Amino acid sequence: MIEVNFSPKVDENKLSGILEEIKNDEMGGFVDLPLKVSAEEVKKINETAEKIQKESEILVCIGIGGSYLGHRAIIEALRPRNGIKIVYAGNSLSERELNYALREVADKDFSVIVISKSGTTLEPARAFEAFKKKLAERYGVVGAIKRIYAITDAHKGTLHDEAKRDSYTRFVIPDNVGGRYSVLSPVGLLPMAVAGVDIEALLAGAAKVSEEADGEGVPTFAKYAFMRSLLLNKGYDTEVFASFEPATMYFNEWIKQLFGESEGKNRQGILPASVIYSTDLHSLGQFMQDGRRNLFETIINYPTDELNAKIVEAVKTAHTAGKIPVLKLDVPTYDERGFGELIYFMEMACAISAKLAGVNPFDQPGVEAYKNELKKLMEEK
Ligand code: PA5
Repeated sequence: MIEVNFSPKVDENKLSGILEEIKNDEMGGFVDLPLKVSAEEVKKINETAEKIQKESEILVCIGIGGSYLGHRAIIEALRPRNGIKIVYAGNSLSERELNYALREVADKDFSVIVISKSGTTLEPARAFEAFKKKLAERYGVVGAIKRIYAITDAHKGTLHDEAKRDSYTRFVIPDNVGGRYSVLSPVGLLPMAVAGVDIEALLAGAAKVSEEADGEGVPTFAKYAFMRSLLLNKGYDTEVFASFEPATMYFNEWIKQLFGESEGKNRQGILPASVIYSTDLHSLGQFMQDGRRNLFETIINYPTDELNAKIVEAVKTAHTAGKIPVLKLDVPTYDERGFGELIYFMEMACAISAKLAGVNPFDQPGVEAYKNELKKLMEEK
């Protein structure tokens, strides 16, 4: 289990109220997800993954934000060897990036997973159009359809309607699970399985932490949430997530999205930032040691080897002396189980933190602002 180096005084009544609120929220479906994903669904995901692996050398994963970062985080961190190569698309509006992705499949057999809960997001929709065209050129209209897998809402949205009409293989994002809390649903599980990740072990790790929520005592993720809120109240409004494993860069990106979109509203929130050490000790290290003191550091420690353990200790001691509050989360194993634990731990800590700050952990009204501006500009021409 994940261990931490702090033990704040937790208001247990407040905590149990918050936990109840989260469980009963119409978007609280992620709380039970590790236990609710049925054996049947895992089987369907693994069988689909095997089919994709047999038919293709490359899987193109189209999606953005919560429909993208979670699976990329785990695939990049674990770099499994028994799957196929994943190419990501639809996570920006860059024409150049789209062309790079199209170039990757120029002379390779490929399949496409398109993920969008709303089914209307511009970035993935645009990439999907380009890859559909490529599939049809290569495999014909019927052949193309057999290589498209859509993960979307059960009932509505442009992608849902198209997937139904054209009979793509479909997986559902549960109604009560929001984008950034969806990595343990087919959104994350199918791409990970194709890449060779052991999704049962990942779910088992998450389930272990979920049992803490129902057990005796204060769950560790709640201690972390309370600690963050104490630090914010003392003026530490920036949290730097520090990892010592370069392959976890995308895991940091996933965490930043989770906390940023969940907490950053109503002029509230802790700004999430991230570093990878020891690389970034040679860039941001100076600021961390000696710059403006409005930040705290959360070390995500994946105990891997002896030298790494020494550098973790050295950084912790130096930064503490530099007057940065340093929180440390020890992830027990660098594998699917360990990451399953960490995913669930962070999701719960994030939802509790947002509740402690008095904001809704599950909406993202601010994301609409740029979309509206873009829509206006596009309509102008
Ligand atoms: O967490 C969220 O809800 C967002 O980051 C979404 O995942 C992101 O905007 C993509 O949305 P959609 O899956 O509807 O395309």
